[in-house]
Amino acid sequence: MKGIFIALEGPDGSGKSTIIKHITKYLEEKNIDVLVTREPGGTKIGESIRKILLDSKNKNMTPETEALLLAAARGQHMYQKILPAVKSGKVVICERFILSSLAYQGIGRDLGIEEVRMINDFAIRGMRPDLTLFFHVDPVTTLKRKTGEKGGDRLEREGIDFHKKVYNGYVKLLEIYHKDIKIIDATKSKKEVLEQSIRHIENILKREGYR
Ligand code: TMP
Repeated sequence: MKGIFIALEGPDGSGKSTIIKHITKYLEEKNIDVLVTREPGGTKIGESIRKILLDSKNKNMTPETEALLLAAARGQHMYQKILPAVKSGKVVICERFILSSLAYQGIGRDLGIEEVRMINDFAIRGMRPDLTLFFHVDPVTTLKRKTGEKGGDRLEREGIDFHKKVYNGYVKLLEIYHKDIKIIDATKSKKEVLEQSIRHIENILKREGYR
């Protein structure tokens, strides 16, 4: 039996990590084998790349280096962890995937959606999630939540203009890829956000004939 690959996307601090825990609990209670993972990271190599990417000391990293490191981590993640889990019948839930690169690097860093899509397609041979949930909330609210006291990592420390640009990028991408992405209103209560997410996940499980 083939598994399902689900990606959760959205601006920094949109509540993805919290909801993933609840989704996992929900699915496990239904005896579904779940694998939770994240990007950048998910593998030993990927987590090392993540450290380089998020290190606030790496101020002089070029946008191109950033995009290539992300794509490299993604390729490793896809082949070493995601694909084998899907092939073994698991439901894989991944915090962030290619849409993050299209929004942050393609639009936020001005590298171009098409250029970033191409390097990612090289890394993951054009593979895509079965379902992408987008946690929709504006960046001003989320960044206050995230950067708060600690000051945030290298990307969170980018100014509000960068995060607004990324957000507008996401909005543009939602128009382009509207067939593949389900929008979650992440301004609602945790309970409602979870309910919206579960509804879409149940639909994809049914559509793919999972169980
Ligand atoms: P996280 O805080 O959600 O774990 O993600 C780390 C940061 O990396 C976050 O600010 C978003 C950024 N990022 C990109 O810029 N491009 C990507 O492709 C991914 C996966 C994350």
